[in-house]
Amino acid sequence: MSANSIPVIAIDGPSASGKGTVSQLVAEKLGFHYLDSGALYRIVALAAKQQGIAWSDADALENMATTLEIEFKAGEIYLNNKIVSEAVRSEEMSRGASEVAIHTPVRNALFDLQQSFRKAPGLVADGRDMGSVVFKDAVLKIFLTAQVEIRAERRYKQPISKNMSADYAKILQDLQERDSRDSQRRASPLIQTPDAILLDTSHRSITDAVEFVLNAYQNILKI
Ligand code: C5P
Repeated sequence: MSANSIPVIAIDGPSASGKGTVSQLVAEKLGFHYLDSGALYRIVALAAKQQGIAWSDADALENMATTLEIEFKAGEIYLNNKIVSEAVRSEEMSRGASEVAIHTPVRNALFDLQQSFRKAPGLVADGRDMGSVVFKDAVLKIFLTAQVEIRAERRYKQPISKNMSADYAKILQDLQERDSRDSQRRASPLIQTPDAILLDTSHRSITDAVEFVLNAYQNILKI
């Protein structure tokens, strides 16, 4: 099977829309591989911090990105053989990822790595530019979004449910800033391409959203 004939389901959308959870569950149901492309930008931000490279320094970031050893194994993310799964999920790295992601050289440095995830029997790829740039020939493209206030509330409830404190106004402001940085940047902005199906999860459960994507995929297989 040539790489180009391996089906890709591209799920793009803004932060905290639930696309990571939905994508993983869809991949599980179909027995497909899963690519969390956001994790790659988070890793670049973390590695830059560790090496004292500014998130604004495109050339240094590009050089660094090509030398990183990144692995996804048994649910953990490894950077240069160390587990960084927790470290990359911090709010600081969420911001860092969206800052390093504006640079075209950084995006180019991660391009081949992202494509290497396309393996039989198929791939569910989650990010901002999966359907528009990295897997333009994806068989199914979903633009998964939700109202920003609802996304902020979902983020707010995560620490609260673990008895940790959280600041709703700050979370909302961070999300709005990342939304505008992701959709207004020149390099691969977050957009809904004309061939992508809109899935608004503002008032849908995760289970519902997963069903929606699986139905859309089954419909494509019937064509
Ligand atoms: O999806 P996640 O929230 O982990 O992504 C973190 C950041 O990485 C996003 O805010 C975005 O700026 C960047 N990103 C990107 N292109 C992707 C995936 C993520 O620019 N395909």
